[in-house]
Amino acid sequence: MKNVVVIDHPLVQHKLTFLRDRTTGTKDFRMLLRELAMLMAYEVTRDLPLEEKQIETPVAKMTAKVLAGRKLGIVPILRAGLGMADGIMDLIPAAKVGHIGLYRNPETLLPQDYYHKLPPDTSERDMILVDPMLATGGSAVVGINVLKEAGCKTVRLMCLVAAPEGLKAMYEAHPDVTIYTAAIDSHLNDHGYIVPGLGDAGDRIFGTK
Ligand code: PRP
Ligand code: URA
Repeated sequence: MKNVVVIDHPLVQHKLTFLRDRTTGTKDFRMLLRELAMLMAYEVTRDLPLEEKQIETPVAKMTAKVLAGRKLGIVPILRAGLGMADGIMDLIPAAKVGHIGLYRNPETLLPQDYYHKLPPDTSERDMILVDPMLATGGSAVVGINVLKEAGCKTVRLMCLVAAPEGLKAMYEAHPDVTIYTAAIDSHLNDHGYIVPGLGDAGDRIFGTK
């Protein structure tokens, strides 16, 4: 699919394997997810525009490059997106942060929308929507609807594990959004979980099961 970038960097793939492992406990899960988010943010921001600036090193004057003042925003989908947000902020500390609260109804698998708080200038920002799991795609589609309704013109989706079903739903609803993922897994099971996946991301981050 044209709008999907699989981040196959060896460090990302290595850390993802340990994250998936059922024996990885809450503390290590959080640490790995944060590290993965920082490594992935490096790829997600690869095409940010640069501009030139005159500086002086201890040796000589030079024309050097700096980011061209593009306004960025990070928007984790609650809860599991929070596990990735800190890692991205480590790399982009000046970014503003919004939150979108969604949870999947376990019977219908449809996202229930319960909370939004976005930066007031969302319409002027390039937003990175963050959620480790793209399963049916329902949550990501609603999250992007919320950002577009707030006037946002450029949205990227950063997930970690995507199911083919979620990629298809995203492409049908938001073909303009590039999806960055570390893996495309096999399929969804009868409960809407990604196979092989990593289980329930929110529960593994917060130790709620
Ligand atoms: C998980 C996950 C995504 C969503 C993905 O959240 O973090 O937000 O499911 O599934 P979808 O692609 O089928 O919508 P969940 O609803 O379990 O809420 P939580 O993060 O609060 O645990
Ligand atoms: N949400 C999760 O946390 N894990 C899945 O596999 C699917 C949805």
